[in-house]
Amino acid sequence: MILSIESSCDDSSLALTRIADHKLLFHTKLSQDSHHSPFGGVVPEIASRLHAQNLPMLLEKIKDFLCATYNTRTPFAPLKAIAIANRPGLSVTLSEGMCMANALALSLEIPLLCLNHLKGHIYSLFIDKPTQIGEGLGVLLVSGGHTQILHIRDYHHITLVAQSLDDSFGESFDKVAKMLSLGYPGGPIVESYAKNYSGTLLPMPIPLLHDKRLAYSFSGLKNAVRLEIAKTQDNLSKEQICASFQEAACTHILHKLRIYFQQYSDSFTHFGVVGGASANTLLRTKIESLCQEFDKTLLLAPLEFCADNAAMIGRLACEAYAHKEFSPLSDTISPKSFPEDFYKDC
Ligand code: KG4
Ligand code: ZN
Repeated sequence: MILSIESSCDDSSLALTRIADHKLLFHTKLSQDSHHSPFGGVVPEIASRLHAQNLPMLLEKIKDFLCATYNTRTPFAPLKAIAIANRPGLSVTLSEGMCMANALALSLEIPLLCLNHLKGHIYSLFIDKPTQIGEGLGVLLVSGGHTQILHIRDYHHITLVAQSLDDSFGESFDKVAKMLSLGYPGGPIVESYAKNYSGTLLPMPIPLLHDKRLAYSFSGLKNAVRLEIAKTQDNLSKEQICASFQEAACTHILHKLRIYFQQYSDSFTHFGVVGGASANTLLRTKIESLCQEFDKTLLLAPLEFCADNAAMIGRLACEAYAHKEFSPLSDTISPKSFPEDFYKDC
């Protein structure tokens, strides 16, 4: 089995995955949301200190699980490799996970697998399952740091088809929540405010509507929300703002996805949506209809594995292990991450 570690942003998480059939044996995670919420975003210094506290606590849980399951005094003996998401992410938090990964691999004398966190999100679709790439898999990745359409032919061939020119989809929810003083992370909060509103929506600009490029942009929409808040200050309805923004953000995602489906229809049979923001119900519903219209099989990760977690890293690690993609100890954390060096290491 493989022990996987995730510490790329504000979630500390460890998992155990069986190599033979990709079964997730154990998963544990500690989020830091309440610590970052007062600041309206992740504070890297706080995040790295919390990882330093949380990761050893989670390792104790892994040890307890292994002791109980195997009734042994050498609980780590069944481990065949240590997997770590070492890019992209915050360098001060990635290095907390890397320290633990290096120490475990060195002391247990087992190989280290340094993996791409975004590729991990893609493999969240296949936790506890064989891969379902079929004759091609299209993926929408919507996280706090990235908004991308990816085309996957197989484990080694991943092409970036479109990405955001500025803010990401998830980040725009975080920023809207911050403008309305609603806390962090903004995605689930803005979504629940929007759900409480059923009146007319405020007009919002749909980004890049008349631009033929397959690309995303959320900074203009964020600015439109800022202006709307300033305009309606005296009788501001946070629910109306959230609902109007969410509708526009999802319409923008769908508008460009439709172009992708039209242009690339022959090259994929399955379509997956991954990343923390793939938990958004409106987005899921809209993409579901699009997939039905184009006769594509929609793949979604279970809700608990949409946001950052070590189970997806463990699942990806099974593939990396099969390809013997072992890393030297202390493999450096790549400061420049996606997309430029994504192609190279996929
Ligand atoms: O994948 P993730 O856990 O972390 C990164 O790799 O960035 O994604 C976190 C992002 C945050 O920006 C959060 O606000 C957003 O996902 N998010 C959502 C929802 N749940 C989380 N955005 C929109 N709607 C949601 N329900
Ligand atoms: Zn992520």
